[in-house]
Amino acid sequence: SSIDKGSVTWSSPSNIALVKYWGKKQNQIPENPSISFTLNNCKTTTNLSYTKKGDSDNFSFEVFLDGKKEDGFKPKIEMFFKRVEVYLPFLKDYHFKIETSNTFPHSSGIASSASGMSALALCLMSVEQELSKADVIPSAVKESSFIKKASFLARLGSGSACRSLEGDLVVWGKHDAIEDSSDLFGVKYPYAVHDVFKNYQDTILLVDKGEKQVSSTVGHNLMHGHPFAQERFKQANKNLSDIISILKEGDLDGFVALVESEALTLHAMMMTSMPYFILMKPNTLEIINKIWAYRNQTGFKVCFTLDAGANVHVLYPEREAPKVLEFIQNELVAYCQNGQYICDVIGLGANKL
Ligand code: PMV
Repeated sequence: SSIDKGSVTWSSPSNIALVKYWGKKQNQIPENPSISFTLNNCKTTTNLSYTKKGDSDNFSFEVFLDGKKEDGFKPKIEMFFKRVEVYLPFLKDYHFKIETSNTFPHSSGIASSASGMSALALCLMSVEQELSKADVIPSAVKESSFIKKASFLARLGSGSACRSLEGDLVVWGKHDAIEDSSDLFGVKYPYAVHDVFKNYQDTILLVDKGEKQVSSTVGHNLMHGHPFAQERFKQANKNLSDIISILKEGDLDGFVALVESEALTLHAMMMTSMPYFILMKPNTLEIINKIWAYRNQTGFKVCFTLDAGANVHVLYPEREAPKVLEFIQNELVAYCQNGQYICDVIGLGANKL
């Protein structure tokens, strides 16, 4: 290619899984399918500048977080580049400057890998497009294959990142009941979703902002030889089948039960692996008990979910938002580190800037 340099920018959100991905095979292939809400406010913006270099011997890149050089990300990105090189043959011909920033605090314990890796994958796709002058491809064709390939690449950076490109619900992992689902990339959830899930709210309570006790790589590997692994993978498949009618009918009781069970099962897997981990903190449990008490008292359909950490995602329908937010502020924020929480809502996916 004759193009010497250029620059592209993408903004991509985080996502929160309803049915969790936990356990993987070779090449970031999930042991079970998962489904997530795409978030709106928690996102990463990445500017990727590329400059042609003389040789093609090695990867060459530098990373800046909020304008400051950040070498801590380099090993993960180097690994990502190695995995995707075969699909993006220009990678060693250019020097890359990766400038990234998150809308949420970096050390918040909120995984930035989904938003960060999806933003980077999309930037690389845009570079590929610029280099190959892909404009000869009709834009409808280009669009569909662009997102698919970007999700495929994002998966190789961080599994859950492949669910962040589109909104508002994304499935990743082959499932018989979900048409066109794939282990290789995320797909937009293809069936009817009841209006009660429109603008669904996610308030993220930052209980513990410390370094993750267990990296997700270590966590996924703990599912190898785990005594309950096969039952868990079966359960995830059943939950994905069940969530189809829950989403269609607007069955909020079914939703609450399924989503909370998924969160606790994820943590149960970590408690019953060898070695074992407890990733919840005392305040995580305080919050869960408060949510249960509030739900019993009010009949509101507020529920929680968890990632592989102590923070709590509080999920509730938009129509309950004024009251539930009051409850969160009055009763739950006291359990957050420095009173920190983030109000988010289901979003529509990544954007090119
Ligand atoms: O994408 P990874 O490898 O960081 O795994 C994320 C796993 C969970 O966040 C715990 C669950 C999920 O499906 O997002």
